[in-house]
Amino acid sequence: MSQVREILEVAAYAPSGGNVQPWKVHVLVGAAKERLSSALCALHDDPVRAALLREDPPYHAPEWFEPYRSRRRRLGWALYGLLGIERGERERMHSQHARNYSFFDAPIGLIFTVDRRFQRGAWLECGMFLQNVMLAARARGLDTCAQAAFNQFHTIIAEHLSLPSEEAVVCGMSLGHADPGRIENTLRSERVPVDDFVHVHTGPDESVA
Ligand SMILES: Cc1cc2nc3c(=O)[nH]c(=O)nc-3n(C[C@H](O)[C@H](O)[C@H](O)COP(=O)(O)O)c2cc1C
Repeated sequence: MSQVREILEVAAYAPSGGNVQPWKVHVLVGAAKERLSSALCALHDDPVRAALLREDPPYHAPEWFEPYRSRRRRLGWALYGLLGIERGERERMHSQHARNYSFFDAPIGLIFTVDRRFQRGAWLECGMFLQNVMLAARARGLDTCAQAAFNQFHTIIAEHLSLPSEEAVVCGMSLGHADPGRIENTLRSERVPVDDFVHVHTGPDESVA
């Protein structure tokens, strides 16, 4: 745990406007992690109950649109391809998704929250905090996986962690050692070329190398 504490101490040097440091993080280990995992795995297996729960606030756009829909699908099919899961194999997809809720068997689960009275600034800053956690973990030989999969179950998470009503779940994260023997950990995601997301604005006689 002292290593986790050190990672979080370092991560807290993330910049934040006015130094308000809006992030909060719940560290789950042992029985507390198992209890939350069991509750969420059971919920994941109960589509009727799960469908009644809504993300609060929603994480993605209400409907996917291009080019993001295709990027997301490409990643999904790359993962399923590695695992040998074919289109229509819903049971296997469901089981693979369920691995999120056991924190991919990592010994430590993290749940990040911010006060819902904040608007996008706090979420942006929490993202920088999250990135720092991931980098600080990597620097110490540990691996992470950020997980928005938790967000739809925020009411159950709130119950388990006794979150006050003003705390909103930003996302979860698994923290531990990635198993190099698992095929899914060999997945390397691609990135769009820089020119696809950069727009350079210059004066008429100026250029940027
Ligand atoms: C905020 C956030 C939420 C994510 N949620 C999940 C998730 O729920 N489950 C999962 O397996 N991966 C999740 N990911 C991992 C992304 O799919 C991954 O970062 C992306 O495909 C890029 O791959 P890379 O980080 O290996 O370069 C998440 C990443 C971020 C930053």
